[in-house]
Amino acid sequence: MAESKLKRTQRENHKRYKEDVKREGKPFFPYAMFHDTIMALVVVLVIIALACVWYFTAKHAKDGVGALGPLTSAKADPGTTSFVPRPDWFFYFLFYLLRVFKWPDSVFLGTVGIPTILLVLLIGLPFYDRRTERRLLRRPVAIVTAILVVLSMGVLTWKGAIAKESVGAENVQFVPAWAKKQGFEDNAKAVAGAKVFASLTCMTCHAYLGAGSSGPGPDLSAIAKGGRGAQGFADYVAQPSKFGNNVMPAFADIGADNLAALGEFLNASKGATATKK
Ligand code: HEC
Repeated sequence: MAESKLKRTQRENHKRYKEDVKREGKPFFPYAMFHDTIMALVVVLVIIALACVWYFTAKHAKDGVGALGPLTSAKADPGTTSFVPRPDWFFYFLFYLLRVFKWPDSVFLGTVGIPTILLVLLIGLPFYDRRTERRLLRRPVAIVTAILVVLSMGVLTWKGAIAKESVGAENVQFVPAWAKKQGFEDNAKAVAGAKVFASLTCMTCHAYLGAGSSGPGPDLSAIAKGGRGAQGFADYVAQPSKFGNNVMPAFADIGADNLAALGEFLNASKGATATKK
């Protein structure tokens, strides 16, 4: 019976491995367990040492900032409307993936689909690559894949680290260009409304002429066409839940003037010349 070359090598390798174990093997207890215990102790000691350095240097520092950071940072404010959430650095690559994929069509694919497919491929590796070759140079596919994965995660992490949040003062710089494109340069109230729009959190949920976030709210570049009218928009933004929108927060507390200006701005947003990204 013809046995494949691969099967034969695998069987020979296995036999040699069993002989090696018999000749030179050491029992798990106490050898391996001793090593593991020592290593676990070292790790715990390092963590305790770092915690001590953090605590004692911060406690005695005049400005409260020790060698490893402050003892406590500012108190969390559950009522904030200007907080910009950012993940820990090791999630920057996923965070940036969210920006690459546009809500809502491909976000699921990009953030759940692709990582899951890659994980399944990784878990399945021992089942579909049964070769016994271990030399790096003889495994070009694996090497190229590994390099590509590391490179793309590195680039995404880097892009995520330098990505600017589209919120607050940064967006105000767009206002003159918006006014020009939408043709409301001469409408001072609309320009003021645009500034309010840019400096609040609107753009974390809404896109406007290619800036801001593509979700979960709709693109507002041409929202005037919805026909709510300036007052209608002001009412909507003040209390979105009255209009069945329970995702968007109420902005009633920004004051009647700001609301009126926002309404004017939205009502002047006809998306006339440019709605493309
Ligand atoms: C937390 C996310 C979020 C924030 C912040 C937010 N919105 Fe919204 N907004 C939404 C969502 C979601 C919808 C769509 C709801 C729907 O379709 O029922 C929406 C809808 C709207 C609409 C559409 C009304 C229409 O006619 O369809 C307007 C106008 C609007 N938002 C303006 C604003 C303004 C102005 C701000 C800032 C002051 C703002 N939004 C902040 C999530 C948000």
